[in-house]
Amino acid sequence: MIYFDSAATTPIDPKVSDFMVDILNNAYGNPSSIHKAGQKSKAVIENSRRQIASCINASSGEIYFTGGGTESNNLVLKGLLTRGDHFITSSIEHPAILKPTKELENQGVQNSIIKPNQFGKIKLKDIIPEIKSNTKLVSIMYVNNELGTISEIKKISEYLKTQNILFHTDAVQAVGKINIDVINIGCDFLSASAHKFHGPKGIGFLFIKDGLSLNPQITGGGQEKNLRGGTENISGIAGMGLALDISNQKIEENHNYILKLEKQLFFELEKNQIKFRRNGINQVTGLCNITLFNVPGQSLIVNLDLEGFAISFGAACASGSSKPSSIHSKIGIPSHEAECTVRISISRQNTSEEITKLTTILSEIIPRIKRRKDA
Ligand SMILES: Cc1ncc(COP(=O)(O)O)c(C=O)c1O
Repeated sequence: MIYFDSAATTPIDPKVSDFMVDILNNAYGNPSSIHKAGQKSKAVIENSRRQIASCINASSGEIYFTGGGTESNNLVLKGLLTRGDHFITSSIEHPAILKPTKELENQGVQNSIIKPNQFGKIKLKDIIPEIKSNTKLVSIMYVNNELGTISEIKKISEYLKTQNILFHTDAVQAVGKINIDVINIGCDFLSASAHKFHGPKGIGFLFIKDGLSLNPQITGGGQEKNLRGGTENISGIAGMGLALDISNQKIEENHNYILKLEKQLFFELEKNQIKFRRNGINQVTGLCNITLFNVPGQSLIVNLDLEGFAISFGAACASGSSKPSSIHSKIGIPSHEAECTVRISISRQNTSEEITKLTTILSEIIPRIKRRKDA
């Protein structure tokens, strides 16, 4: 399998999986137990918390472990907003924001949903007119998961501070790829997920700025300072800390490497006379949303899969969906083009040879499946 779907999830870094196996075997004590075995597990957890905090310029007391990006997002919205509050978000957020928004609406939390521009960018100027006297929270994603577009996070955050409105960013597609500094951004909450930066699945974290608090959504044994009950996923937490540390240490190097592969992809598509348009703007490196004119995306994905290549058509998070993503209509891409739009996402584990193999196979498949005319 040649894997170009790292925006859906990344393969685990072998150093991380080795480390996790070691932790599974050797740090088995319950971190809440006071004996040595328990304290060993506790130390593993706290070490990861420190690693993560230092990667995003937070203090370790501001990092809370969760079961991933979905849980972190749910925790902020449901842990903060109550009947009578007003909340602002965007129409292109992940379902892990949009679904809780809808649920909270049914419980009396008002909302305003901002539309992006044609590149999938959310701008401060679109948020300002929506602010009301009861606006408690704004949540805008750092990087869009389908287009790769980076929004005006720092600008939005700085303005909201002057209005005493809390700001959350779903940074699931940014952490490990972009240098994140929570002090510089000035956000109050930030969500991340390990499986997007070559860590394990089912583990994530939420940054909560010192002094702020949320109502827990999972109660039990008082873990995570009473914010999330349940015996900790020790190996997952340890794996996430190491995965982020590895990604952050070479963030610049990885960026340059992936950018080189990305340029090669576009160069070879052009050289092979494949007509395409890249959607989005100011994208995170490696996330390439491209419309291949008159080439049905669904058929392309299936044909590529048969040849051993993984790319995506619509976000994987829309659970098994084979329909074109709704994001395209939200940024004004007509449906006949949306059906011909795919996402190729490159990670540091891909190689130049793999890019050439992909563009070569694309030039074989595309003439076979291309529609004669626009639908
Ligand atoms: C922007 C964004 N937010 C949230 C999530 C959900 O994260 P998780 O899979 O860890 O629940 C994803 C996953 O695709 C995502 O891309």
